[in-house]
Amino acid sequence: MNQVKQAAPLDVVIMAAGKGTRMKSKLPKVLHRLAGRALLQHVVDRAGDLAARRVVVITGHGAMEVEAALARSTGDTAGFTLEFVRQEPQLGTGHAVQQTVPVLPDDGVVVILSGDVPLTQTDTLRDLIAACDGRQLALLTIDFADPTGYGRIVRSSTGGVQAIVEHKDATPAQHAIKEVYSGIMAVPAKLLKPWLARLDNKNAQGEFYLTDVVKFAVADGVPVVAHKISDPLQVAGINSPVQLAELERAHQLRRAEALMVQGVRLADPARFDVRGELTCGQDVEIDINCIFEGQVVLGEGVKIGAQCVIAHARIEAGAVIHPFTHIDGGSSSAKDQIVVGAGALVGPFARLRPGAKLGEQVHIGNFVEVKNSTLANGAKANHLAYVGDSALGERVNFGAGSITANYDGANKHKTVIEHDVHIGSNCVLIAPVTIGAGGTVGGGSTITQNTAPGVLTVARAKQVSLANWARPAKKK
Ligand code: UD1
Ligand code: CA
Repeated sequence: MNQVKQAAPLDVVIMAAGKGTRMKSKLPKVLHRLAGRALLQHVVDRAGDLAARRVVVITGHGAMEVEAALARSTGDTAGFTLEFVRQEPQLGTGHAVQQTVPVLPDDGVVVILSGDVPLTQTDTLRDLIAACDGRQLALLTIDFADPTGYGRIVRSSTGGVQAIVEHKDATPAQHAIKEVYSGIMAVPAKLLKPWLARLDNKNAQGEFYLTDVVKFAVADGVPVVAHKISDPLQVAGINSPVQLAELERAHQLRRAEALMVQGVRLADPARFDVRGELTCGQDVEIDINCIFEGQVVLGEGVKIGAQCVIAHARIEAGAVIHPFTHIDGGSSSAKDQIVVGAGALVGPFARLRPGAKLGEQVHIGNFVEVKNSTLANGAKANHLAYVGDSALGERVNFGAGSITANYDGANKHKTVIEHDVHIGSNCVLIAPVTIGAGGTVGGGSTITQNTAPGVLTVARAKQVSLANWARPAKKK
């Protein structure tokens, strides 16, 4: 890795004014999602990684929506100043960057990115900034077997970069050049600004090309350096749903491979999706078609069955999540994040909602829903149950078909079930209510009042059997 000698402060410009016609969507192109985040958000995240001073986003099509979405997701903690400039109408990439001149300080290095190129790596940009060295024009380039449509890197006989020629302006000889401009450059603002002022639109497309700054640099004797990479994913732009899906799969495969290198065993890396941060301990096994969202931590030896969706959760060592389980903490706040304790068994077909905190060896079986509740070590709810706004003590057994009635139509109330309680099948516990330690509630009971420790409580009509009773018969 290069040691970045970053004398000048860094300002990032992101072009995001284009229409994205081929997405055929009402949503602006840069707000479409890859790995669960807006394309533009991926690009802004890189600015954060680079400790940028300022991020200037050029908007046009769908400007209001793009600006609102980004302002919401960036917040005050970003560490950089976020600014928007409007480009209306869109007269080309050079015209786009011209709009940023009034808000770009003169003392910075400017990195120009596109809002629809989401997977450029931070280290690549660091290397590009190092190549700029605070005093020259640095271009990110790549060789393509099929360079159709891209700007070609034209070099002199001694190898120096002379110009970028757009595909539509290129001669047949230039069409044969495989090295193309990625759309990403780093350049000192004090050089960029006067070059932008010199752009014209006398070319095949009648646009103001940002890429014309290269010829001004050459004319001014400013060195132009090409930082060439070999990884096409890092410069891949998205123009259509097909490209979006292709890049999503390529990105997911890389994440899958990185996890497998760490020792995670994936049943099929092609059927695996991470839309956030997944952290795994040793000997984690994940079956097919699982989706992980937000911050998810899987402890040592955790097994995840097929078809699970797991979001904002910490699953501790040795826990097993059986197939078709939905776990979603909603957010990673301490209150909401889901915790599944060591050795717990969850599912199949279980649902854990925000604030579900399961202790060690807890069992949650099929068609059991748990929300905002704590289940202490060894508690079990194995079949067809709802546990909401509750605290279950150690070794509580919550019977099949039983529920906590936590909502009176206006407010939520708490149910407390102390240690070693057995709740029979098909009970309704009407909150607020406390079941005393070691107590038992008979099946079919509707419990409305607190019960004392150690007692059996039955609250249902007494069974009667009538011997001299005849079934009604059909009248003849
Ligand atoms: C540009 C480069 C080309 C390079 C290619 C890499 C120019 C003239 N050409 O071509 O050398 O190989 O990228 O993908 O720069 N945008 C605006 N306002 C505009 C026009 C574009 O904001 O008026 C934005 C687009 O939304 C997009 C980015 O700029 O995010 C690039 O525009 P695009 O039209 O894709 O550039 P290309 O013609 O492909
Ligand atoms: Ca493009």
